[in-house]
Amino acid sequence: MANANRGAAFHSSALVDELMARAGSLCADFFGIDDPRRVIFGPNMTTLAFHLADAIVPELSPGDEIVVSRLDHDAHVSPWLHAARRSGATVRHLDFCRHSFTLQPDMLARVIGPRTRLIGFTAASNALGSLVPVKELIKVARTTNAIVSIDGTHFAPHLLPEVDSWDADFFFCSAYKFFGPHVGIMAGKINWLESLNPARVRPAGEKLPVRWMTGTQNHEGIAGLVAALEYLAELGDDQGGFRSRLQSAYQRIAGHEANLTRIFFERLRTQNSWKLIGPNQSDPTTRVATFALSGPVPPRQAAEALAKRGICSYSGNFYALPVTEALGIESSGGLLRVGAVHYNTAEEIHRLWDALDAIS
Ligand SMILES: Cc1ncc(COP(=O)(O)O)c(C=O)c1O
Repeated sequence: MANANRGAAFHSSALVDELMARAGSLCADFFGIDDPRRVIFGPNMTTLAFHLADAIVPELSPGDEIVVSRLDHDAHVSPWLHAARRSGATVRHLDFCRHSFTLQPDMLARVIGPRTRLIGFTAASNALGSLVPVKELIKVARTTNAIVSIDGTHFAPHLLPEVDSWDADFFFCSAYKFFGPHVGIMAGKINWLESLNPARVRPAGEKLPVRWMTGTQNHEGIAGLVAALEYLAELGDDQGGFRSRLQSAYQRIAGHEANLTRIFFERLRTQNSWKLIGPNQSDPTTRVATFALSGPVPPRQAAEALAKRGICSYSGNFYALPVTEALGIESSGGLLRVGAVHYNTAEEIHRLWDALDAIS
């Protein structure tokens, strides 16, 4: 791996140009979009979302409306609140259903209107594990002229994004969530990427994707991102193009995670101490293998007890502040969150439940 600044006449610079071209092309396949020029790299998802929000401010006028969801991580809410504050736009909140713990098209239809300019929501909840019907929601969003932004950060480790088939205007994710290093990635539709005016240095010029990428990129991180995507593709069939290898890999990942989820639910139902907050069926079309629990021990104390047993879990709000606020549990310590990805085993799910039983 070479590490030099780009566009120079010497060998190592040309190698970095090649790396960036490969990263763009693999990410385009990963997202399901038609053009690598639509792939923008940045330090992390949050910074890219604020960058986009700043570029959207001049598109907004006082009285325009922005819709944010109560199911989202705050990294896909605060940037839009910031854009609203700077432009005088009004913020409307899309709540999640308290039975399905997801966002519903009819609920979106009730909060949009002729002044809606931006609609942002997540594809999967990092707090509750809920999957969101992205395509159906975007169909409803298209009854307005709003820009639709999707946060795929929690979705991408579990399911393969389908950005163009969803018809999303913007899509975000973060490579460390899908087994890579700390690199944020944004995909956008060409018309928006070309017409919005992001903050940039003059020599960056107008070409995509560089007009969106501030400063020298984290080339070593992006090399790691390429390796992470190649690793994911290796989990699938070794025939076909990169996207079809990823499709078969994600089918295997989803099958394995569905099995772990089923075991998690079997154990959940044999006890009464811990209550699941989130979609309460193991049906893989409604959830990923992320489970929020409330129980007899405060979340932080439970996470510490699990850590002593070598089990990594999170407590609190996991930055999904809108979720814990909506559920009225922010001041009482939030939730205990556990979860599984493709490398976890059935034995580990049992070990987790044995530990939860022991500390309750
Ligand atoms: C759903 C979701 N969105 C956004 C983020 C923010 O990503 P980053 O840490 O790359 O800024 C996270 C991180 O936890 C997340 O889970």
